[in-house]
Amino acid sequence: MTAEASGIQVDVTGLRHRVRAVMPEVLAALEGLVRIPSVAFAGYPREPVETAAGAVADLFRNAGLPEVRLLDVPPDPPAVFAARPASPGAPTVLLYAHYDVQPAGNESVWRTPPYEPVVRDGRLYGRGSSDDKAGVVAHLGALLALGDDCPVGVKVLIEGAEEGGSAGLEAFVPAHADLVAADAMVVCDLGNVRLGQPTLITSLRGIAVVDVEVETLAAPVHSGSYGAAAPDALVALVRMLATLHDERGNPAVEGLAKLPYEGTQLTEEAFRAEAGVLPGVDLVGDGTIADRVVTGPAISVIGIDVADVESAPNIVIPRARARVSVRVAPAQDPHEAAHAVVRHLQTRAPWHVRAKVTVKETGDGFRAADGGPAYRAAVRALETAYERPVTEIGEGGSIPLVAALQRAAPSAVMVLIGPGDPTSNAHAPNESVDLSELERSVLGEALFLGELGKGGL
Ligand code: BES
Ligand code: MN
Repeated sequence: MTAEASGIQVDVTGLRHRVRAVMPEVLAALEGLVRIPSVAFAGYPREPVETAAGAVADLFRNAGLPEVRLLDVPPDPPAVFAARPASPGAPTVLLYAHYDVQPAGNESVWRTPPYEPVVRDGRLYGRGSSDDKAGVVAHLGALLALGDDCPVGVKVLIEGAEEGGSAGLEAFVPAHADLVAADAMVVCDLGNVRLGQPTLITSLRGIAVVDVEVETLAAPVHSGSYGAAAPDALVALVRMLATLHDERGNPAVEGLAKLPYEGTQLTEEAFRAEAGVLPGVDLVGDGTIADRVVTGPAISVIGIDVADVESAPNIVIPRARARVSVRVAPAQDPHEAAHAVVRHLQTRAPWHVRAKVTVKETGDGFRAADGGPAYRAAVRALETAYERPVTEIGEGGSIPLVAALQRAAPSAVMVLIGPGDPTSNAHAPNESVDLSELERSVLGEALFLGELGKGGL
């Protein structure tokens, strides 16, 4: 689409060239961040996480933002805050991303080591290359490209505990609403539905994590002498977990909201391919795919403490524990969903076993408010950068802080984007980002900031 046809007001060609010119610096910044194993989960070293916070602060300091500081958000690692005030009358935009990453998992299934960035076939590989260090450097790139011509006030908020649920920052934000106040927020922690297809995310699901622990015996006992009469805690637990879904695989917990999804649909064929569902294996649940993965609830059992098969002793198991992760419909209160799951599990314990069900964590979902001029400016900017019409779609994943930011700045227009694509392997081995997509993402964001500054609010 030409600049004239899109109605865009900034000098698109000029900005395109400036983005092109800063991409080597953006790539170097991304490579530098990927080298730092900033996993913020308990049990991982804190030092690289703090190194990453410092590196992010340096990037935005070097980009010329006059105020750069670390926010102390216990119990989590610091968030990086950077700002340049708006000139009188100009709007302010908050740019959000996160510098913490998921653990690399089994490194032997990575084609190249997770913390050694490698460019192959136009993609940068490494843990966090997409989720979400690409988001960090997309913001950086937009600011570098606009340079002194940035027409809006800027606040940058890069947190270090998103993958763990952002508890510290979630408590900090409502107490510092003035710090995050903005006219628009760009959350760059999502992805496009297809490579080259600009995508605005309109909703996120919430999350509720529930732990269930079953105890039956004082200690393990010989399964030959006691099995068949002494209750096995793992068997009891598995029976309880099996009641979470019906025969067709639909979540079967009363009180979990399920709404039909009215927006862009996903085809079963594309979904199967992206998810890598093996040939002949059924999908689970009823309704359209989007009903299930965008607005419906999802229940996964994400961990069970059990013995390794190869070294399993022949015993009746006295104690077993599982973690259940529930994706909550965007509009439902995740506490309400969590308690529905707690009630469900408590009433499904067989044989009067001792079952302790606890809520481990909750995170809010999000629904974008209707349009408005700043949202339309984002659509124009992305359509100009990608030269394609925008897709608007809900996302099944969660970013709990988004709801907290929206509550702190209720009139801010939320723009949820990102340079990831379905082949980015976020959270999985061989994570990557396409470098031309990253460049389009930087251009899209720079155009958006430019448009807002030209009165696009
Ligand atoms: N970047 C993701 C959110 C996301 C998920 C975007 C799927 C696009 C597709 C984010 O970093 C993430 O993984 N969030 C966690 C949040 C949880 C720990 C509360 C998630 O969804 O599991
Ligand atoms: Mn992320």
